[in-house]
Amino acid sequence: MRHELPPGPRAPRALQTAMWIVRPGAFFDWCRKRHGETFTLRLPGADAFVLVTAPADLKRVFTAPADVLHAGESNDLLRPVLGPRSILLLDEADHLRQRRLLLPPFHGERMHTYATVMRDVTEDALDRMPIGRSFSLHRELSAITLEVILRTVFGIDDDARRRPLAALLVELLEVTAAPIRMVPAFWRIDLFELLPRSRAARLKREIDATLYAEIARARRRPADASRTDVLSMMLAARDEEGRAMTDGEIRDELVTLLLAGHETTATALAWTVERTASEPRVLERIDRELVEVVGDGPLEPGHVAKLEYLDAVTKEALRARPVVPIIGRMVKKPFELGGYVLPPGVAILVHIVGTHTRADLYPEPEAFRPERFLGKKPDPYEWIPFGGGSRRCLGMAFALYEMKVVFATLRLRARFALDRPSPLDVARRGVTLAPEGGLTVRLERRMPRRSMAARANAA
Ligand code: HEM
Repeated sequence: MRHELPPGPRAPRALQTAMWIVRPGAFFDWCRKRHGETFTLRLPGADAFVLVTAPADLKRVFTAPADVLHAGESNDLLRPVLGPRSILLLDEADHLRQRRLLLPPFHGERMHTYATVMRDVTEDALDRMPIGRSFSLHRELSAITLEVILRTVFGIDDDARRRPLAALLVELLEVTAAPIRMVPAFWRIDLFELLPRSRAARLKREIDATLYAEIARARRRPADASRTDVLSMMLAARDEEGRAMTDGEIRDELVTLLLAGHETTATALAWTVERTASEPRVLERIDRELVEVVGDGPLEPGHVAKLEYLDAVTKEALRARPVVPIIGRMVKKPFELGGYVLPPGVAILVHIVGTHTRADLYPEPEAFRPERFLGKKPDPYEWIPFGGGSRRCLGMAFALYEMKVVFATLRLRARFALDRPSPLDVARRGVTLAPEGGLTVRLERRMPRRSMAARANAA
């Protein structure tokens, strides 16, 4: 067993960091070519970073005991926004407690209760989109996924309360998404504390005040078992010792669910539109399935599980363009990996993009082939857009379901033409990778709601 680290570039840490921030994709490809599939980088935040993409290594990482590898610590740079009690930042027993409290509303079967909200929000957004004029579809998709979260997770059905909160959140996300914002976070500098009068700090205070008001309002509501929003379930949830969640915990989890679930799903949808736009064969098959399953519509919750081809399309889109490029684990106890023993203080970076572009797992990785996932379950150590193990994305079922409902609802009624042909460049937005330029499109045709006759004509 070797006690040194896998090989890696010898350039000084500052230079490696600059490369990682400025040209992450090209730098990764160069290192992989030069040093092999597992290599070591020197970046701030840990003694060294070991990058992995081999399924056998991923299996070891995702099944490691919670006290050997910490995921929460690796997400620490999100602490200023999420708050200290966020599930994303916790480890071991604290993490397990929050995960158990949050899990029930995210089970697969629960999704049916959210389907109509997802569909109606998409139909309303579609009705507002301009015809024949260019606009950013990514922005529209973000507005859809934000409204879906505010209604299904926060349970805010009232427009007058939801709109101002949505506007504040969009502004905060704009302010915090610039790559330059990542730089102070690397050194654990909290800009909200350092610059309390900044626009971002002011926005955060306003949002927190609104969230605490929503929590107080929900606590005052008489118990109502028919409510399906996640906030109501958080208020009712009890841990093994019978303890309820505090307001602070609920605030941090609400912000976490919002930040983890809103922009990610919108971006995944944007990539699904972008990847399929130049694939007439794929679009044709999606349309055929929609006619067979949904008929003269509208899309109902019972249809979603039957959209098997669309399901494979969303999985292939997440493979080809994973929204989150990388996830981290911090080594807390010596950890054996690929013939090396990694000491505490080293971080492991699971490179999702690198895994999804391995030609041994996905022949011709640049080709868009939903058939890779048709009729089979993806391997949890080869298809990892949602991470893995006990830290796997809590909202995976929610996101996959929402992607199908939103994409199907748009496709049933509308035809978009991309302003610039795919493939679009990949741009970094906060911790996600999105289509460059906001996916500008023109809406060429929009059919009225639920009208099969119009749809048949258009076809
Ligand atoms: C396509 C959309 C999404 C993608 C690509 C995505 C991706 C991810 C990834 C990569 C992780 C880290 C997993 C790991 O470290 O192993 C994660 C964690 C998480 N995601 Fe998502 N996510 C998406 C949507 C959502 C949604 C809709 C929600 C909730 C509404 C959500 C809530 C969470 C939470 C709470 C965690 C932390 C889980 C934990 O630490 O135990 N995500 N997600």
